[in-house]
Amino acid sequence: MKLKNTQLLKTQSFINGAWLESTKTYAVFNPADNSEICKVNDDGAAQVELAVTAARAAQTKWSRITALEKHDILIDWYQLIMKHQDDLATIMTYEQGKPLAESKAEIAYGAKFIQWYAEEAKRVNGEILPAPSNDRRISVIKQPIGVVGMITPWNFPSSMLTRKAGPALAAGCTVVARPASETPLSALALAELAQQAGIPDGVLNIVVGKNSSEMGRVLTQHPDIAKFSFTGSTNVGKKLLEQCASTVKKVSLELGGNAPFIVFDDAKLDKAVEGALASKFRNTGQTCVCANRILVQSTIYDKFCEQLTEKVKLLKMGNGMEPDIEIGPMINRKALSDVNNLVKEATQAGAEILIGGSPLDRESNFFQPTLIKNVSQSMSIAQNEIFGPVAPIISFDTEDEAIALANDTRYGLAAYFYARDIGRCYRVMEQLEYGMVGINAGVISNPMAPFGGVKESGIGREGSHYGIEEYLEVKYACFGDIE
Ligand code: SIN
Repeated sequence: MKLKNTQLLKTQSFINGAWLESTKTYAVFNPADNSEICKVNDDGAAQVELAVTAARAAQTKWSRITALEKHDILIDWYQLIMKHQDDLATIMTYEQGKPLAESKAEIAYGAKFIQWYAEEAKRVNGEILPAPSNDRRISVIKQPIGVVGMITPWNFPSSMLTRKAGPALAAGCTVVARPASETPLSALALAELAQQAGIPDGVLNIVVGKNSSEMGRVLTQHPDIAKFSFTGSTNVGKKLLEQCASTVKKVSLELGGNAPFIVFDDAKLDKAVEGALASKFRNTGQTCVCANRILVQSTIYDKFCEQLTEKVKLLKMGNGMEPDIEIGPMINRKALSDVNNLVKEATQAGAEILIGGSPLDRESNFFQPTLIKNVSQSMSIAQNEIFGPVAPIISFDTEDEAIALANDTRYGLAAYFYARDIGRCYRVMEQLEYGMVGINAGVISNPMAPFGGVKESGIGREGSHYGIEEYLEVKYACFGDIE
């Protein structure tokens, strides 16, 4: 890996402002060719405990520095991230596999959460409320919740950390984060830059290691952790939520999705095709907001399938470090085999492959960009989160049927639809049981908007002014005997 600044390639846990020596390590692999990139610390519960102690000790001082000071430090961090965008993107493409252009975009996307919350730090306002009698006053203040435990995913190794750490730090909380073991390097590079930006020792701690359940147990059960935030699958999220019950932690969960992407017959077809392509194939289909089921009105079904197939034919797949690549590898063999099984089951049940349909070859983690038609809602490919470059296309007749199909899932993260009729746009938007809805828009994530789901897709919101509330407690002060 060629970096302009080799200091950014860190391999040890970052605890209390220091890089922790360890004799126990594990290998991080490049998903494009399964070659070893480097070895990193294989730390565990004991190191998470150390980090919690450091975060607890740093908490009071960090919570008391002024909003403007917090702002300035966070802005320095943001600027350093942008200054090193190229190196950070290279590290990401090596460990995660996404095309370099997408990695660069993710670094900028992630940095913007730091920039945004640097400003929000200045707006943690209290309130004076009407009192029940003349000798009383009601004040409301907002205070940082305390130490926050975080587990971040491999699909967005940089921006999912900044989307949590940005508001946490701006609110005055300290952080112990455990990045996914597949992609620890992006998080460690961010820690190096955080230190350069002047984030004090103990305020941001990153612990890397393979034993996710052991580390997760400490992060969810430690009495000194007041809040826990997780991005990952619904099944793992449910277990972590249960573990948080013993200490009644405040919890944010950003879990799985089964996003419907509905195309009505009054839509601009070319825009809908473009939107579907962007929504489905971003990050090789490995996002929790990717279009998971494309629902197309029967009157335009064949035309839509034809146009989308022509676009998918042009997608260039390969190692994300090569020029013009749009589809990278899947994260590992297990992910590839899960997707392959869903495709096989669908074709055995009568669905028809329009393009793609199988892994590239026996050894690699590449799965061909795939479109499948004649899919029905009962097939497992329509019921489960695919998390790969495969789009099942389902036909529907009426608006009511489309809404019913879209809502027929335990998930409720993102939904998309394309239509021009304004009445339909409002009707459908209001009836979709989802936390986020894209209307004539296939990619909707940005730091200014509240990201999050309903039903089994999660609890809480990240991004926007809503995001910082997740890291604040409301305190009501009742002043009595006022003469
Ligand atoms: C995710 O897949 O977890 C996040 C995707 C996004 O921020 O758009």
